[in-house]
Amino acid sequence: MPRLLACVLFLAGVASLLPTARAVTALAPGEVWRDTDGRPINAHGGGILFHEGVYYWYGEFKEGRTYLPKVNKAWGGTRVLAGGVSVYSSRDLVTWKNEGLALPSVPENPDHDLAPENVIERPKVIYNARTKKFVLWFHQDSPNYQAARSGVAVSDTPVGPFKYVGSFRPNAGVRPLNATDADLAAAPGNFLARDLEGGQMARDMTLFVDDDGTAYQFYASESNQTMHVSQLSEDYLRPAGKYARIFVGRSIEAPAVFKRNGRYYLIGSGCTGWDPNPAHAAVADSIFGPWREIGNPCRGEGAEITFGAQSTFVLPVAGRPDLFLAMFDRWNKWNLEDSRYVWLPIEFDAAQNPIIRWQPRWSFPE
Ligand code: GAL
Repeated sequence: MPRLLACVLFLAGVASLLPTARAVTALAPGEVWRDTDGRPINAHGGGILFHEGVYYWYGEFKEGRTYLPKVNKAWGGTRVLAGGVSVYSSRDLVTWKNEGLALPSVPENPDHDLAPENVIERPKVIYNARTKKFVLWFHQDSPNYQAARSGVAVSDTPVGPFKYVGSFRPNAGVRPLNATDADLAAAPGNFLARDLEGGQMARDMTLFVDDDGTAYQFYASESNQTMHVSQLSEDYLRPAGKYARIFVGRSIEAPAVFKRNGRYYLIGSGCTGWDPNPAHAAVADSIFGPWREIGNPCRGEGAEITFGAQSTFVLPVAGRPDLFLAMFDRWNKWNLEDSRYVWLPIEFDAAQNPIIRWQPRWSFPE
């Protein structure tokens, strides 16, 4: 064989052994998902905003050692220092570019709401067409999860950096739309009455913008026993002072809300910390309720524990009238940074109830 040909064949052989950059086209729930730099995507408990042709995925940036804090003995959960809110961008929901931290934590000030020892969870961003601002809400908490507050930040661009506005307990001094006098009678364990003046507890949360531009916050309140749906002000920066109690005493958290054919749907979980439990689905004709529970929407292997995961968001996919993407977190409670993402499409049965089937690998339809 001529020497030149041998050399070319040898080089071709070597080249075929090198890894080639293959475009990702399928989603494999629960596997490590990498960004365009090849690094594992770090955006937990998050949500997606679609803006001008681009999807922005915001989530909890969890980096470093998972530990069992002494201060949390009563609560018993593991945690990781809060790194802030990360943001990734994509045009196809499969290829994600790291856009850095939309809202970094504040390590230099232990008294700051955003200090890493505190909790920054379940960030969600919505766009206010009136003010042209991107508004970020999240669960802000103290290291032992007893503050139970909502944090708000704002930005002129989707990737930030967002400017921190502050945190509060929502709806201080405001009576829920659907509370009776008996609901508000002071009694041991009545957190609604206890917190009426100072503001209601707010932990797991999501945001939802209705067709008319009115935005709502759903938050697990009353020590996670009851959820509140709370209208936001026109600038989306605070509660408007109108809220209802839903799933009273049902201990549903991790809310994800969407609207289809004029009806509102909610997917949530039970309250078992990082451990998975059966999902809850519910439907309503009015956002303030009544909400009707319709059971666990999951089907297939692992459905009874939500495929080992917990709801965080439902995205109506742009330009696909009936395609809704259900997003879940599969928490790794001993290595929270390595928690994985479980995203699956939602089907609807004959009664128009949502069904989410386990699939180890799937692609968006062409
Ligand atoms: C879960 C909640 C998570 C996180 C976790 C801490 O109940 O859904 O967002 O707060 O508890 O243990």
